[in-house]
Amino acid sequence: MKPFAWISCPAPRLADAIAYLAKHPGKQLRSRLTLLCAELIAEESADAAVIAGEAIELLHTYSLVHDDLPAMDDDDLRRGQPTLHCAFDEATAILTGDGLQAAAFQHLVSIESLSDTQRVDLIRVISKAVGFDGMVGGQALDIAAEHKALEPNALKNIHRLKTGALIAASAEAGAICANASAEQRNALAQFAAAVGLAFQVTDDVLDVTGDSESLGKTAGKDIKAKKSTYVSVLGLAGAKEEADRLLNAALKALDIFDDRADPLRALARQMVHRQT
Ligand code: IPE
Ligand code: IPE
Ligand code: MG
Ligand code: MG
Ligand code: MG
Repeated sequence: MKPFAWISCPAPRLADAIAYLAKHPGKQLRSRLTLLCAELIAEESADAAVIAGEAIELLHTYSLVHDDLPAMDDDDLRRGQPTLHCAFDEATAILTGDGLQAAAFQHLVSIESLSDTQRVDLIRVISKAVGFDGMVGGQALDIAAEHKALEPNALKNIHRLKTGALIAASAEAGAICANASAEQRNALAQFAAAVGLAFQVTDDVLDVTGDSESLGKTAGKDIKAKKSTYVSVLGLAGAKEEADRLLNAALKALDIFDDRADPLRALARQMVHRQT
């Protein structure tokens, strides 16, 4: 998948920033989730799901560019290279994030093989996942929680919003592209909601157990920024147990599918047990 390939911008500095991001597009787990969910239901929906997945990667990349800004997590390393505001400047990073968000929705409406109803459904589900009642709301709660000891349920809510919502929407997007039945769509959404939460639990674990070189981003920054994380609330062993519990719950939601869901099961395990 090449999520940035079609984007052009008349402002040379923003065009350079897009090219810089395109060099290291990340693991692309969310778009793989979209594609596998679509293929599970209807193989012929793959082409549409690739475009929907690319749109989701654009939104995810925008969220990282803004997450790294000095006003947010103030990070200098992302995907193995200096963060966008360090390599360029803050204005460029803010505008690139803004542009990527708009580009994602342009890309979604361009999926000509889908009906208008499907396209509106995609926009409805994905815009909610990255908006106030999703990623942006979660990011605001995450920042407000710095230097505070959170109850486990409050932390769960932050993780569900800031990270889980877009991952859940990635699976639902695949279901929409494939015209899944309500039962199939519901199962995939439940599956991905649990994977999405587990994904951020693992991110918290890796911040403690990983190193910057292999992660491609600064390790150990959550403690430095006094963030509430699953590790700070449950301890390292407790956080890993919680990730596994969520993974098992996710896999259970796939019980309505036969072994054709095995690639999806494998991706879920990879997302939760990843080392980077
Ligand atoms: C990192 O996501 C940010 C979180 C939501 C935890 P990824 O680990 O998927 O990052 P990339 O896309 O591979 O860089
Ligand atoms: C970020 O969570 C989640 C987003 C919505 C971008 P983190 O702040 O923990 O992500 P990293 O560790 O910087 O990738
Ligand atoms: Mg953050
Ligand atoms: Mg961060
Ligand atoms: Mg993190």
